[in-house]
This record gives sequence, structure tokens and C-alpha cells, in this order.
Amino acid sequence: MHTAIVTGVSRGLGAALAAALLERDFAVLGVGRGSHPRLTGERYRFARFDLADAAGVDETLGPELSALANAKPTSVCLLNNAATAGPVGTLGRLAAGEIASSLAVNLAAVVALTNLFCRVFADPALPRRVINVSSGAAQTALAGESVYCVAKAGMEMLTKALAVEQQAPGFRAIAVRPGVIDTDMQVFARSQSKDVLPSVELFQGFHRDGRLVAPDVVAAKIVGRLVEDDVEHGRTYSYQEL
Ligand SMILES: NC(=O)c1ccc[n+]([C@@H]2O[C@H](COP(=O)([O-])OP(=O)(O)OC[C@H]3O[C@@H](n4cnc5c(N)ncnc54)[C@H](OP(=O)(O)O)[C@@H]3O)[C@@H](O)[C@H]2O)c1
Repeated sequence: MHTAIVTGVSRGLGAALAAALLERDFAVLGVGRGSHPRLTGERYRFARFDLADAAGVDETLGPELSALANAKPTSVCLLNNAATAGPVGTLGRLAAGEIASSLAVNLAAVVALTNLFCRVFADPALPRRVINVSSGAAQTALAGESVYCVAKAGMEMLTKALAVEQQAPGFRAIAVRPGVIDTDMQVFARSQSKDVLPSVELFQGFHRDGRLVAPDVVAAKIVGRLVEDDVEHGRTYSYQEL
């Protein structure tokens, strides 16, 4: 059976990705602090895990991934989707603990889970794919969102690192900048004060101008174009290309 692992399935794009994959007969392992009620059925399994505990990835998620491998999947795809937009604030105004926790969720856990994925799914004949959900913030610095930007830039470098390390013909690592999606993350960003988030008008403009796309629409494009179709190893895809 085609199998996928999706992080951050409680809401937003992650819940929509998991639902779209289940509709297409994938077996799905959701990972996160909570699951979404629409994600049900025999092909769905949920592993409760707070990604802020990046150091605990091997111990908690190792047995979950091994169970998937033992089921002899036809292919396996890891979608690193979960993220937090906090802390907001310009450098000089952030707390060290908030920085460490954000980088744990948005980057350290992503690297640790990808490392575990490469270890558990080591069969060179198995079609494997890692999809890192990045952002335009990987390239364009947003004032007040530096910690998020750093993590997204790191995810895109992780994608390139996989491309040079994983040479099996069936292994593909890509990143996707998914555009602007109508989720809680956008609500959070546009609700900030300009003092804390100098780039807040950008987010208010996405909402005002009707540019936000429904998560189910973005998820269907990601699954159709990037999970099921051929992709270029190491490449970052933009929403416009989906
Ligand atoms: N929305 C946009 O316009 C946009 C644009 C560019 C890129 N992206 C990217 O798209 C992806 C999905 O974003 P979204 O808009 O769907 O965000 P969202 O609605 O805020 O959802 C974020 C998801 O990540 C999970 N998560 C956050 N912290 C976690 C933790 N410590 N442990 C486990 N799970 C955690 C959340 O679970 P909880 O419910 O437990 O918090 C939730 O399921 C992210 O990588 C984001 O950076 C979004």
C-alpha cells in the first residue's frame, strides 16, 4: 500500500493533506499534539507527539515508523508540514526559550524525523519521498518573523542535503512553498500589532485582497503534483507550479 507520514494533522494544511491522501487510498500516519476529527478509518493511524521535543523523535516515533516498514509499503512519503509562526518580534525583543522551542518544532524535529525516516526506510528498492513544507519566508526575510524564516531556509537546505546524499533512483526530496493558505497561521500573523510584527500589513493584505486559498485546494495540488507525479530531486516548488 502507498503510505504517507504527515506532521501537524490537527488543522490547517496538514489535516487537509492527510484527508486528501486517505481519499486516494494511502495509509496515513498522522503525527502531532492532536488529530482532526475528519481523519478516520482503518488506513489512518495517529502518533501523539509534541515536536518541540525534537530529541525524543527516535524513541517515540521510531517504533511507529518501524511498524509502517514492517507492513511492506509500496512507497512511503514523509510530509514535514507542522510548524509554528511564533515567536513574533524583531531580534532583541525575543526570549531565548521561545527561540529554542520554535526552532525545535520548525527545524530540529524536521531534521530528526527525516533522519529517522532515512534509517528506517533504508531499502534502496523502495520508492521514498520527503516533502518539506517551506515558505516564501525561506528566501524573503520578514521583519518580526526571523526565527520562522531561519527555520524555513534550513528546511530548504535539508532538501538539498538529501538530494546529494540519497542517490537511490527511487528517492526524491523536495520542498514546496505552498502559497498563502486560509489557516490559523494567517489569522495569527495578521492579528499582530505593527510594533511586534513590522511586516503585518503583508498578511492583512492577503486577507483583504482575497488571496488566501482553502487548505483542501492546496492539499489536492500538493498530493497530485508532488506526491503522486514525478518530481526533481532537491528542487523547491512554488504554489504557481502546482
Ligand atoms: N498558511 C500559510 O499561508 C502558509 C504559507 C506558507 C507556508 N505555510 C506552511 O504550511 C505548513 C502548514 O501551515 P498551516 O497554515 O496549516 O498552519 P496552522 O494552521 O497553524 O497548523 C499548524 C499545524 O502544526 C502543528 N504544530 C504546531 N506546533 C506543533 C508542535 N509543537 N508539535 C506538533 N505539532 C505542532 C499544529 O498542531 P497544534 O494544533 O497541536 O498546534 C497544526 O496541526 C507550515 O509548515 C507553514 O509554515 C503556511
